[in-house]
Amino acid sequence: MFLTVSGYVESEVMGKPHSVIRHPEMPRCVFKLLWDTIADGREIFAYVNNMAKNGDNYWVFAHVTPNFDAAGQIIGYHSNRRVPEKAALETIKPLYRSLLEEERRHPDSKVGLGRSWKMLNDAVATAGFDSYDRFIFTITPEN
Ligand SMILES: Cc1cc2nc3c(=O)[nH]c(=O)nc-3n(C[C@H](O)[C@H](O)[C@H](O)COP(=O)(O)O)c2cc1C
Repeated sequence: MFLTVSGYVESEVMGKPHSVIRHPEMPRCVFKLLWDTIADGREIFAYVNNMAKNGDNYWVFAHVTPNFDAAGQIIGYHSNRRVPEKAALETIKPLYRSLLEEERRHPDSKVGLGRSWKMLNDAVATAGFDSYDRFIFTITPEN
């Protein structure tokens, strides 16, 4: 399914980093949240806009989980993607757009990331949620 949607053949993506399908309009703070969460041993659900080989974009609702060995050490990561609800994307798209604009506003990318990170957390709090997870599941009706 991934190959069909992304337009790549297997040999082009096997062993490659997930960023081969990174869309330039994805805010970096969302990937920071993703990596911070899974490196901490927790799962995350997140909306991601990806770029197919031909430059088209496609949105996914990703469920990313760490894999553990018998000793409880993280030995890898796994992602399941679902088709997102249109209604959820109506909330996510303007949020990501403003996060990206904030990141691009700052010539120093570290400063930009710090600002968009704060914006993301503020957006969750302003919507009345105490965590990103609660926010995500409120805009994701089928879950
Ligand atoms: C299991 C897993 C799945 C991922 N899936 C995607 C994905 O579908 N699209 C994407 O752009 N990044 C995905 N990432 C995040 C990428 O590793 C990377 O952080 C992101 O593309 C940003 O790339 P950059 O740091 O080069 O800007 C995934 C990471 C993991 C661990």
